Amino acid sequence: MNTESDEALASTERLVLREVRSHDLAVLERMWQDPVMRRYLGGPVPDEVVAERRVGDHTGSLMVTKRSGEIVGWCRLGRYRTGDLELSYAFLPEWWGRGYAREGCAAAVGLAFDRFPDATRLVAVTQEANRRSVHLLEALGMVRVDTFDEFGARQVMYAVDRPHSIDGETR
Ligand SMILES: CC(C)(COP(=O)(O)OP(=O)(O)OC[C@H]1O[C@@H](n2cnc3c(N)ncnc32)[C@H](O)[C@@H]1OP(=O)(O)O)[C@@H](O)C(=O)NCCC(=O)NCCS
Repeated sequence: MNTESDEALASTERLVLREVRSHDLAVLERMWQDPVMRRYLGGPVPDEVVAERRVGDHTGSLMVTKRSGEIVGWCRLGRYRTGDLELSYAFLPEWWGRGYAREGCAAAVGLAFDRFPDATRLVAVTQEANRRSVHLLEALGMVRVDTFDEFGARQVMYAVDRPHSIDGETR
């Protein structure tokens, strides 16, 4: 039987990042519809959109689990409309305030630059009012590069450049 560590795409002291599996759907559905998690994301997703997402493409989606396998959150490496590599994330509220998002997203950033060798930077966009999210991005060392209004709210784009390797070559 596979263990979490067999399937790990990345791991940290406390966490494992792995591909989404079909039995994650119940947790994903909660993430799409939980009013607390969706507060700054336009509110709960309607049932018909949930039905589409259930059978949709989950490429780039990663479940973040404790080393025991318990799910604490989700990250996604996708493309923003500018073509930039984009990080999205959502963690279950019962695990907020324990540094899991910081630890999991930091691992996702490293994975992003490994998986996408042509990407020179990675961006994340969040509502300015989403203080936890803004705080997370700044804790990850990301820098505010743009602000704009969309979906009736002020949005902020943060970015981090690909780290340079010791010999000065970009990885
Ligand atoms: C945005 C979101 C991921 C932030 O989650 P979070 O729990 O606040 O973030 P973290 O896991 O990084 O927790 C950070 C806090 O944990 C604390 N912490 C506790 N134990 C810790 C540990 N062992 N290591 C590190 N930090 C720890 C830190 O001190 C930090 O608080 P501080 O910086 O004020 O001191 C979460 O609110 C969320 O999922 N929201 C819903 C989805 C969403 O809005 N996503 C944004 C999409 S654009």
